[in-house]
Parts: sequence; C-alpha cells; structure tokens
Amino acid sequence: MVVPGSQHIEDKMYHPPEGLQKDAHVPDFNCYLELYKKSIEEPDVFWKEVASDFYWKKPPTGHILQYNFDVTKGNIYVKCMEGAKTNMCYNVLDRNVKDKNLGERVAFYWEGNSPDHHEAITYGQLLGQVCRCSNLLKQMGVRKGDRVAIYLPMIPELVYTMLACARIGAVHSIVFAGFSAESLCERIMDSQCSILVTADGVYRGEKLINLKQIADEALEKCREKASATVTKCLVVKHHALRTQNGDISNKLQTPWDAACDVCWDEVMGQVSEQCEPEWLDAEDPLFILYTSGSTGKPKGVLHTVAGYLLYTSLTFKYVFDHQPDDVYWCTADIGWITGHSYITYGPLANGATSVLFEGIPVHPHVGRFWEVIEKYRVTKFYTAPTAIRLLMKYGLDPVQKYDLSSLRILGTVGEPINPEAWHWYHEVIGQKRCPVVDTFWQTETGGHVLTPLPAATPLKPGSATFPFFGVEPTILNEHGEELEGEAEGYLVFRRPWPGIMRTVYGNQERFENTYFKKFPGFYVTGDGCRRDKDGYYWIAGRIDDMINVSGHLLSTAEVESSLTDHGAVAEAAVVSRPHKVKGECLYCFVTLKDCREFNRTLVDELKRQVREKIGPIATPDFIQNAPGLPKTRSGKIMRRVLRQIARNEKDLGDLSTLADPKVVEVLFSQRCETAA
Ligand code: WT7
Repeated sequence: MVVPGSQHIEDKMYHPPEGLQKDAHVPDFNCYLELYKKSIEEPDVFWKEVASDFYWKKPPTGHILQYNFDVTKGNIYVKCMEGAKTNMCYNVLDRNVKDKNLGERVAFYWEGNSPDHHEAITYGQLLGQVCRCSNLLKQMGVRKGDRVAIYLPMIPELVYTMLACARIGAVHSIVFAGFSAESLCERIMDSQCSILVTADGVYRGEKLINLKQIADEALEKCREKASATVTKCLVVKHHALRTQNGDISNKLQTPWDAACDVCWDEVMGQVSEQCEPEWLDAEDPLFILYTSGSTGKPKGVLHTVAGYLLYTSLTFKYVFDHQPDDVYWCTADIGWITGHSYITYGPLANGATSVLFEGIPVHPHVGRFWEVIEKYRVTKFYTAPTAIRLLMKYGLDPVQKYDLSSLRILGTVGEPINPEAWHWYHEVIGQKRCPVVDTFWQTETGGHVLTPLPAATPLKPGSATFPFFGVEPTILNEHGEELEGEAEGYLVFRRPWPGIMRTVYGNQERFENTYFKKFPGFYVTGDGCRRDKDGYYWIAGRIDDMINVSGHLLSTAEVESSLTDHGAVAEAAVVSRPHKVKGECLYCFVTLKDCREFNRTLVDELKRQVREKIGPIATPDFIQNAPGLPKTRSGKIMRRVLRQIARNEKDLGDLSTLADPKVVEVLFSQRCETAA
C-alpha cells in the first residue's frame, strides 16, 4: 500500500518546548504514562473525575462504561454513565454562563468569506440565540427524538441550530453544504428528518452557491420517493451576502414556497430568549453524521449525549492543552466530524474562545489563513495536511507578511501527513516553537484516539504517536492474531472509550458487520498501521475500498455507481492514485456500452455526473477508457492491478489468477498521464 507519508520514515524525535511544559495539563511523558495507566486500570475512577466537571441532573447508577465488543457473545453495545440524566447544551452554555461567569467571554469570532465580514459572539449571546432557536424549532413541531436535517454554511446560525437541537433533545443530522441534492435527499430519507434547516445562499470564495435551490431539489427528490418526511424548511438569510451586495435575492432567485418555507429572520425575533433544557438520558442520541460506507450507501454514525460530552471535552483540553487565554482555530467545516467535535462541542465544553471561519484558504488571497491568525492572535491552530500542501505551493512570501508569533500549538487531522508537509508546517508556520499534534481518529471514534499530547510526547514526523486516555489499540494480522512489538497489520481497539459511536442509525446489523465481525472482540478501524521499535503508531491508510481525498473518505462503490448510472457506461472501477495536494485522488476506469464512443465530451459528462450525484469533493481526476477490466476467473475485479496501472507501476507481480491477461496490456497502453 502506497500512501503519502507512509514510505519515508524519519526517526529523529522532536521534544516539547520547555515554555509549554511549565503550565501544561500533562507536563511530561511520565505524567502521560501515569494517567494512561489509570485510565486503563481504573476507568471508573478516571472518567468519574472527568464527569465531575459537568452538570448531571441525576448521577449514573452503575459502572461508567459498560459494553460488549464480542459478536460471538451477543449484540454489540456501549453505554456510558448509564442511569444519569443531563443535557449537552446546558453543559456547554448555561454552565459556562451561570456557574463559571463566562457570559462576557467570546465564544466565537466569526470570520466571513470576505475579510470585511466578522462578528464576535459571547457565551451569553450564544445562549440567548440558542434558546430562541430552540423555541423556534419547538414551535415548528420538533419534539425530543425527532431528527432535524441541517444544510448550512459556516455561519453562526449553524452553531445555534445544532445546539438548539441538543437543548430540546432533537437529533441533528448535519449535511456538509458542499453535498449534492441527491446526497442530501438520501440522508434526509435514511433518518426520516422532519425539518430541514438551510440558508438562501453562500459565497465560497468567488462563487455564489444557491443553497436553497439545492435544498428544494433535495426535498423534491424526497417527495418523488415514497413517504417524504420533511414538513417544514427553515431558511436563514445570509446577512453578510446582503451587506456586501445589497439584496442578493434577485441574483439568487431564492425560490419560496409559503406552505413549507419559514424565514428564520422573521420568526427568531418573535420567540423568547428563555428555554428550559430537556433532561435526557445519558445514552439518548445527540446526533447522526453520515460517513461513506464500502457498499456505497452512507452510514448514519450515531453518537450519544454523555459519552460524547466527556470525550470531546477531555481530548480538546489535553490535545490542545487548552488555557483560558487561548484563541483556538480549527479550519474544518462543521459538516464533518472534526467540526462537530472540535469547533462546537469540545471547545465550548471548555469555555474556549474560537475562530469560526466561513472562507477558504485562497480567497481573497493565498495568505488568508495567516492573515486570520494574525488578526485574532490565534494560539492553537488545527488544519488538514491537504491544506498545508496546498499553501506550501505558494512559498514563503504569503506567510512572511503576517505575524504568527501568537501560535503555540499546531494540529493536523484527516490523513497521514507526509514529512515534507510536516516540516514546512513545523518550521515555517510554527517557527520551530510549536509542537505538531498529528491526531488520528474517525467519524466513528467521536474524538482523537491516537495523538501526541503537546507538552508530553516527543514527536516523530508522520506518526500519530500514542493512544489517548482510555484507548487500547492493538495490531492484528490477517488471522486475527495480536502482534507484539514492532509490527504491521490491522489497527483495532480492544475496548470502548466514552466517545465511540453507538450504532449505525436504523441498522445495528450493518454496525456489527462493518466494525466487529472480522475480528470478534475488537473494533476494526479499517486502517493499516505499523508500530515501531519505540511503540509509536504510524497509520498506513485504508485497507478497505475507501479512498481518502483531501482528508475525506469516499467510497469507491458510491463513485462507481454514479458512473454506471450514465447511459454510456457498462461498468466502472475506481481506484486511488497519489496526488500532490489532495493526498489521494480518484482514477476511474470505465467500460462503455457497445457503440458508445469515448471522447472529451463524455469525460466531461461523467465528471459532471459524479459531481451532481455526490458533490464536488468526489469529482474524478482521471477517467480512462477500459475496453475490458482485469478480472479473476470468478469475475472479481482485481483492483490491485488497476491501482498499479493508475500509478504506472510496471511490475505487476503475479497475474496468474487473471481470466484474460491481455486486458492489462491494453489498459497500460491507454492510461492517462495527466488529469482529465
Ligand atoms: C479516516 C477517517 C477524523 C476526522 C477526519 C476524517 C484517516 C484521519 C488521520 C491521521 C492518518 C488519518 C484514516 C481514518 N485519518 N486522521 N492523523 N493520520 N490518517 O474523518 O472521514 O471519518 O475518516 O481518515 O484513514 O480511518 P473520517
């Protein structure tokens, strides 16, 4: 398996700067080891202490964590703080405002797509807006347990809506606002959402996107299918767009259906700023977030209240060594798990001040990130390797224009970071003073599971280092045997931590099959992993049919099925190919139906088709004509061979299982050198 970063290993260690160690929560490696030992040997004691920071309407009745990870012994389940009653929103807002007196502290510096648009929102203001939104949702008929679909850009209303759901016990299902109408429809249908919350439009860089129109298309598609569930669509007017260009409604032509659509701005003013939180069971659902599945149909990953609260708050506090005077900035979109855990819940649970950024890294100029860091004096900065690789290309000039001396800790997430990007981040952005925390985790894990602690862990560039508290990783070989010491194999976890997913929404069987069936007794991540002689973990990338494009997992099956939906395509196979900025990209082989011609127009049509079915992130980089695909005698496509063709690796190894070896020669002769 070739994944950027996994081939080249540098063994030099980078030690934490002393300045950081002085007041750190976990000041040295021995302290990490002691706490880790406690979290594994006495999980009840460890997590009770964490829980004591939060408000519980009722305490738990038994062990903090109860579980079964072994499919041969019955259903898989995880329960945290069973018997307890609490409310997430109360803990991240009311508790800060009332008990900790942080009402005046800034929760978010919202920074718009354009540098002219910004706004500071205090904890007190946030609580008021969230209560209003809670009342609004209730007025629209939303009750405890109902699912609310949220399709919003990175504006404060996104945070208000998700926290309002948490307050009234509704389950939010946020769909990244770059997804297509088809993807949005699929997600709404799967979890039978009763309300959709969206915005009229949004600028992404220079591009104006008519979100409401996409949302309407999605609802129309839902209606075409049986049992449409959405009764109302709540629409936010994007204020920054209006101040920029006056009334944008003409340009956007926001469609409006008075029977279904509700205007956020009109009703928010009419509802009260007070709203009693709903006291929920510890294991009540908090949200659903869809992630790609290897069958092509996305999985609704379900997270629950108490465990997710404990885990995101603790990982945030320790991994970014949170201090009261910090200004923290995570550049992810809230539409992904990184935004859920490390823009909304984790930071707010700690009373942190964060930047909430709507823009993109290269608009209006390629120094945008560094400009924002200087503007807010950001101390902790968390981004993805793909963004670092993109910005590296522009050299030092755009960085050196800005004062980055406020930075203390840098973080990365989403994919393995290649050493070149690591060093640039460490030296150019962090000026060698800032540890780089390479955090490995998944939508399913809820929070960081392998990660350095910035003042405690000596770093090796490209390694996510060691497990977080309560996490017990191990490496298995193909036969499910545990490997000790230096080893390479399947990364699995032996026991749950509070923030792990509880099920696939509406499909417990798929949950068990996907994560627990292959190796009974373990949660299987789907990643390959190596442990070196010092015990450091190195993620080698996916070992299933998933491709990590710019830090987002895409399912090859899903892309293949959107290609074969095109009338000209008989069969399609999609593999990954390394990409300088995205890490990996999609290389598609298509076999056309008889008498269809492969040409430029068709390639463009296919690219558009995938974009429309899934979203722009899934746009293929390469589409190759494949008169035939390499198959075994039993008809299984040999993806390994396709991957090698895509990468121009001439030494194909053993091809004896191929039904027709000539196919390979033809494919090699027609391979794409440059992106389509
Ligand atoms: C997959 C999970 C977790 C937030 C973003 C992605 C890959 C994630 C790292 C890292 C190497 C990483 C893995 C994982 N991944 N972080 N630090 N080093 N690989 O969430 O879409 O659920 O994807 O991303 O392959 O399984 P996701």
